Amino acid sequence: MNRTLVICKPDSVERGLVGEILGRFEAKGLAIAAAELRTLDADLLARHYQEHVGKPFYDDLVRFMGRSPALVAVIEGPEDTYAIVRTLMGATNPAEAAPGTIRGDLGTIMTENLVHGSDSNDSAAREIKIFFPGL
Ligand code: RTP
Ligand code: MG
Repeated sequence: MNRTLVICKPDSVERGLVGEILGRFEAKGLAIAAAELRTLDADLLARHYQEHVGKPFYDDLVRFMGRSPALVAVIEGPEDTYAIVRTLMGATNPAEAAPGTIRGDLGTIMTENLVHGSDSNDSAAREIKIFFPGL
């Protein structure tokens, strides 16, 4: 089994869309291996988003990701599950994401794009260790 990290971001929790988002992964045939609702602090987010630290959008990203609880989950499936999840998520900017994707169907703005998914198998392993060290 192959695993990836998903975060239902604060906007999706606030809007009551966690069931809708996780339901799409389940309907695809992927399984939830772990899930926890938690408020993400700046230290944790700096580890998670290490490739973005110092970029112009970084401070806004941390403020957004920590403003209210997020649902952090590990999703399990076949080889390269991270890629299946990213396809279901759609493009980073919901305004440009294809209909049928989570971001394309449920969002309109870049800063509130509902969901995070690891962008490679290496990122998935690194991120799962940050959020679920015992898994
Ligand atoms: P994520 O990591 O959250 O799953 O999103 P992603 O891979 O599709 O996009 P990434 O490039 O990793 O960017 C992380 C988050 O930062 C915000 N962002 N803003 N203003 C900008 O140019 C910009 N670029 C990225 C987005 O909210 C994105 O999800
Ligand atoms: Mg990313």
